[in-house]
Amino acid sequence: MGKRTINDLTDAEVRGRRALVRVDFNVPMDDRGAVTDDTRMRAALPTLDALFARGARTLVLLSHLGRPKGGPDPRYSLAPVARHLATLTTRPVRFVASTVGREAVEATTTAAPGTILLMENTRFLTGEEKNDGALAAQMAELGDFYVNDAFGTAHRAHASTEGVAHHLHPAVAGLLMDTELRFLGDALAHPERPFIAILGGAKISGTIDVIDALLPKVDALLIGGAMACTFFRAIGLETGTSLVEPDRIDMAKALVSRAGDTLVLPNDAVVAPSLDAGREAHAVARDAIGASEAMFDVGPRTCGAFAQRIIGARTVVWNGPMGVFETPPFDRGTRAVAEAMARATAAGATTIVGGGDSAAAVDGMHLASRMTHVSTGGGASLEFLEGKVLPGVAALDDQST
Ligand code: 3PG
Repeated sequence: MGKRTINDLTDAEVRGRRALVRVDFNVPMDDRGAVTDDTRMRAALPTLDALFARGARTLVLLSHLGRPKGGPDPRYSLAPVARHLATLTTRPVRFVASTVGREAVEATTTAAPGTILLMENTRFLTGEEKNDGALAAQMAELGDFYVNDAFGTAHRAHASTEGVAHHLHPAVAGLLMDTELRFLGDALAHPERPFIAILGGAKISGTIDVIDALLPKVDALLIGGAMACTFFRAIGLETGTSLVEPDRIDMAKALVSRAGDTLVLPNDAVVAPSLDAGREAHAVARDAIGASEAMFDVGPRTCGAFAQRIIGARTVVWNGPMGVFETPPFDRGTRAVAEAMARATAAGATTIVGGGDSAAAVDGMHLASRMTHVSTGGGASLEFLEGKVLPGVAALDDQST
């Protein structure tokens, strides 16, 4: 059943009220505390604007940042993120140094109408990750209704993403959350065919459930990244010094025999003696990887074959780079996939990039605007593709209520 969104709220539910909005401002920062990629912050702005346009009085934002352990840690303070937010909106932005409690509540009730408050990192509170009910109830005091726009954190059942929705109603999805669920959900439920998925990255272990869930749905599942080497071993090939997960080879074997032609492995590889020996990089057939070489990218024949399939598809979902894209020349496979997807988009296909590394790669190649949708969720989009229920979504009000 669909979830209520901010568009379903009645005027009486919004006007003059405090909106408690869970955003995912878990953004990368440099050593001096400057935000280095504000994609997630900009992605939340339509929800913030829409809430003010509907007459909300004050927006109270909750977010985590990083993975602080055991209480407050100034390295993970959201204060610099609040300063950055102030550069993205014309509304006054105030950072509140507490997250819950008397002072925090007072800040929400006394703020001038039209203010955005960003509360301190939710993970400074020990109850957050334990989804502590008492903490969730305290969070609920910060607003008059709850909006979850943090798709990137929707796979976590934490007090600010899940628990609070049991204490504060209405509890609805923000526009970013809704967009993410619609793109990923529609692609899986009603894909226009051919439907191609591309999975990459280092480890088969983190992706196995995604492969399992996608195999029955897709017309082809293309495998790249270091993960391909574990599959190579499963079909009896030598992989030199490449990264392989020995304890997953049997699992890969089972997948290969179950998937038949649907699972497409690279037919060549770019290899080198080591990652910093890019000048010695060369392409070999997948059955010719030397004993002292490692695979760091898919090869040119694979790039061509994958691109051809992508360009001929009507729905493409991609998660995980094809090689070590941060270290040229091992970026070519990832670039080939991104460029083929951009061409597919131009030809009318629906192209979706799961978050994390592949989203960063597409961004770095200035191709993000040429995809139908680039997800802001790394782990969350993978869990969604696995078919898992995301707790942060499940806790929201159903459309009929
Ligand atoms: C992410 O960056 O994937 C989300 O913000 C979740 O962060 P986490 O993996 O630390 O829970």
